Amino acid sequence: MSEALAQERQAVTEIDTPVPVIDLDIVERNLVRMQGYADRHGLALRPHIKTHKLPRLALRQVELGAVGITCQKLGEAEVMADAGLDDILISYPLIGREKARRLAALARRITMRAAIDNPLALETVALAGREAGRPIGVLVEFDSGMHRTGVTSVEAALALIAQVKAADGLGFDGLMTYPSSAATTDFVRAVRDAGIDLPIVSGGGTPGAAHAHEIAGVTEMRVGTYIYNDRTLVEVGAATLDDCALHVHATVVSRPTEDRAILDCGSKTLSSDLIPRGVSAGYGLLLDYPDALIDRLSEEHGMVDLSRSAKKPALGERLRVLPNHVCVVTNLHDEVVASRGGMVEGIWPVVARGLTR
Ligand SMILES: Cc1ncc(COP(=O)(O)O)c(C=O)c1O
Repeated sequence: MSEALAQERQAVTEIDTPVPVIDLDIVERNLVRMQGYADRHGLALRPHIKTHKLPRLALRQVELGAVGITCQKLGEAEVMADAGLDDILISYPLIGREKARRLAALARRITMRAAIDNPLALETVALAGREAGRPIGVLVEFDSGMHRTGVTSVEAALALIAQVKAADGLGFDGLMTYPSSAATTDFVRAVRDAGIDLPIVSGGGTPGAAHAHEIAGVTEMRVGTYIYNDRTLVEVGAATLDDCALHVHATVVSRPTEDRAILDCGSKTLSSDLIPRGVSAGYGLLLDYPDALIDRLSEEHGMVDLSRSAKKPALGERLRVLPNHVCVVTNLHDEVVASRGGMVEGIWPVVARGLTR
């Protein structure tokens, strides 16, 4: 770096708040560690980009060995394809003519795959495959216990697989579930026992990622949050505070009483997500004041209860908040500050944020 450029480099603390800041050294360590784990256990890694929504980090994941990426929405996939990503799985049911049109446009350019759990999604993807003039690979999603999407019986999976195989415009690639659990193994075995060849069995979830190799039958890991980690993952023991790469920097904008501080980060900055089924209360962890509790949020205000904190932050002080759920925080911000050693490396537009279609 030239001297002039070096002089222009800013300390992260000079960037106005509230602002999400990522530490690129921690990001890289998290990426290398997960890829190393997948490689050691002969598992394919297909990272979910929902956590970072940044093409450059998706490209880095592929450079390190990921077989492709996962997107929840077509809008995210369009951004990633424009940036040069290939082999994208949409892990969310696509329904309707307009989705088919956009999926077809993507499938003409790159390899696309889609998860389905119902006949209408099957029809949508098949239509896209016919329009694109090349079959789209389908994973049949089954429920491993989350009770969200996914067929709930082996019989239903076999019926849908038969429909996929018979449909024009589709190729059958295998199964998908989220998150992987002990139930995954039994389900996969039963489908294999019915004589179905399963090139891909895609499982997922960062909380259980360190045990992915123990779930027999799974061939592929779809993990997202591992790139940044967050307070939820620390709470469940899947990450340490040192593994957390994204913090929201905030400022104490008011100190109305001895035991109350107001931060400039409310629900528009931290989201309203609490820790699911967690023991830790509050809307994020104040790293330098762990006994303080962000107990209420307005859109732009974070109310901090200091009654249990011997140390109390001063008016105007800058604080770091570890978010409860980092993926939604990413989605709330137009830009993220990329840093290394406390210095700004860049201010990156979160290109794939806010794309709900
Ligand atoms: C379908 C699907 N696959 C994979 C993931 C990645 O999970 P995690 O962020 O826990 O790694 C998610 C996260 O919500 C998901 O919904």
